[in-house]
Amino acid sequence: MSNYHIKHLEEYYQVYRKSVREPENFWEEVAEEHFLWRKKWDKVLSWDFSKPEIKWFEGAKLNITENCIDRHLATRGDKTAILFEPNNPEESAEHITYKQLYERVNKMANVLKDQGIKKGDRVCIYVPMIPELAIAVLACARIGAIHSVVFAGFSSTALSTRINDSDCKMVITADGSFRGNKTIDLKGIVDEALESCSGIESVLVVKRIDSDINMKEGRDTWLQPLLDKASTECPAEIMDAEDPLFILYTSGSTGQPKGMVHTTAGYMVYTAYSFKNAFQYRENDVYWCTADIGWITGHSYIIYGPLANGATSVLFEGVPHYPDFGRFWDIIDKHQVNQFYTAPTAIRALAKQGSELVDKYDLSSIKVLGSVGEPINEEAWHWYNDIVGKNKSPIIDTWWQTETGAIMITPIPFVTPTKPTYATLPFIGVQPALINDAGEELKGNQVEGKLCIKFPWPSMARTIWRNHKRYKETYFSTYKDMYFTGDGALRDEVGYYRITGRVDDVIIVSGHNLGTAPIEDAVNEHPAVAESAIVGFPHEIKGTALYGYVTLKETGEGRIHDNVRKEINQLITDRIGPIAKLDKIQFTQGLPKTRSGKIMRRILRKIAEKDTSNLGDTSTLLNPECVQNIIDEAL
Ligand code: WT7
Repeated sequence: MSNYHIKHLEEYYQVYRKSVREPENFWEEVAEEHFLWRKKWDKVLSWDFSKPEIKWFEGAKLNITENCIDRHLATRGDKTAILFEPNNPEESAEHITYKQLYERVNKMANVLKDQGIKKGDRVCIYVPMIPELAIAVLACARIGAIHSVVFAGFSSTALSTRINDSDCKMVITADGSFRGNKTIDLKGIVDEALESCSGIESVLVVKRIDSDINMKEGRDTWLQPLLDKASTECPAEIMDAEDPLFILYTSGSTGQPKGMVHTTAGYMVYTAYSFKNAFQYRENDVYWCTADIGWITGHSYIIYGPLANGATSVLFEGVPHYPDFGRFWDIIDKHQVNQFYTAPTAIRALAKQGSELVDKYDLSSIKVLGSVGEPINEEAWHWYNDIVGKNKSPIIDTWWQTETGAIMITPIPFVTPTKPTYATLPFIGVQPALINDAGEELKGNQVEGKLCIKFPWPSMARTIWRNHKRYKETYFSTYKDMYFTGDGALRDEVGYYRITGRVDDVIIVSGHNLGTAPIEDAVNEHPAVAESAIVGFPHEIKGTALYGYVTLKETGEGRIHDNVRKEINQLITDRIGPIAKLDKIQFTQGLPKTRSGKIMRRILRKIAEKDTSNLGDTSTLLNPECVQNIIDEAL
């Protein structure tokens, strides 16, 4: 089909216009020609943003794993599907072909069935970046179980909250994980989490680090012996287009994370189509996304998008700085990676090391460089472009969210001229709108406002697990009949979008989406803490780091401050994970509040940014006098 690979800018505009004028015809054509359906749909799209209710390809029947694996067997059976690069560079890489993936997924699927997992059951996957993680995800999809992957860097409390929210029946985990020269006791974290998860019936454990762990009789089983006995054939469960495929949690404005629900057909069609076009993936290319499968980027662009295209997708267990800061470049060289997709925070950390390490390796295989997770600053963009891409590999700055399921605004490489710090143009089928404070859509170019999406796209999340009300309130109630992203953006003179950052209480730290509320909840658990407010401030590597303003119950005792700082960060590590630790903690006598008692974060943000020249109107505050104190203390 001609529009599957977009080849030049005119074609982009042509295809884009069609996707907006006739979205149903457009997506129907994509769906018809590129996927394996057990039954075609009755209706391409029905939607109502006021409810909100969105259905794509209603009536269709399919299994996404047949699309990601089975249908490639005839032509790509011996092609590498997953290329596993272990943490330790001395350990050899593992090439898992499509045929081997088929067998391993089926074996795992049969094990899940033997353990009593059925269609619709929720399975929590808390596994490090090893092949079993991707295999477990696909095995769930094979039998119609809903996977809920929890990033294996989250703490036991964060894990148990997620397990309980979606009533998972099973946890798949590993004895431990390798991270650079450290190991992490994953099973210990799971054991702790499960003390407060009564719904879990079984735990399957992958042996990875060969550590001495506790196996609870009647609950925990080593996975390998079960896999050894399992059959390599497992018929795919035939799913409805709108059956849930997975739940993935993202943080929000309250302590409870939001279990975003993605469904089957639309998610598959859009992730596959966007993968192929946004990365200009060609047969036999080697593609590498460095994200963890615990985030949406890994779901859509390590597993589903690439495999739906029969691609070779690299899965890397380790970290960018082990054994040294040349590891990424070493892997690109070793596997001749063609498309490389990473986050600005990694780019900044690597750029800080200079270019000598990069120059030691042959990076000539690179065709496309991707960026995701947070705005990429100008300096990082140029370093990526000049030093890594040698000025010949376009950078695609891809804007999207857990909720959107897939890339929404991005240049198409070799098609859309790039511009530093700009995500450029909406992807095919995406209809962005910028809204002003009065709630009106800003037409034309050179405008700035809140970023919304006006029309459904196939991979959008359909609801929040068992909380449709919150889904509606969070995304569809700020502006009428629009999906509100929570981001601000501007549109330049040619219609290119630049994402300016979050406009709500979500802070993006090193590309990780962190709500202020769950962190404040953790801080407030400290017995000495009366109240706290978390804001972001600019950070050289992390992009944004966390600044905590904390008022203590007993004041005037400086001696305890350093201990309390440590204890606060320990609490955050225990409740959420080390990624949410505060870089700065300022103890203060009071927090600025509105008359209705809401903390004025805007002022605290300015102080944290050391920009106190114009704090705006503070006269409406309940306690305006505290502002000067906070400024003085901060100096
Ligand atoms: C938020 C979503 C999409 C997968 C990773 C993050 C920010 C994401 C960009 C970008 C500027 C970006 C936004 C967005 N963000 N990509 N290219 N430029 N900002 O998924 O954890 O759901 O976070 O990340 O603020 O709303 P997420």
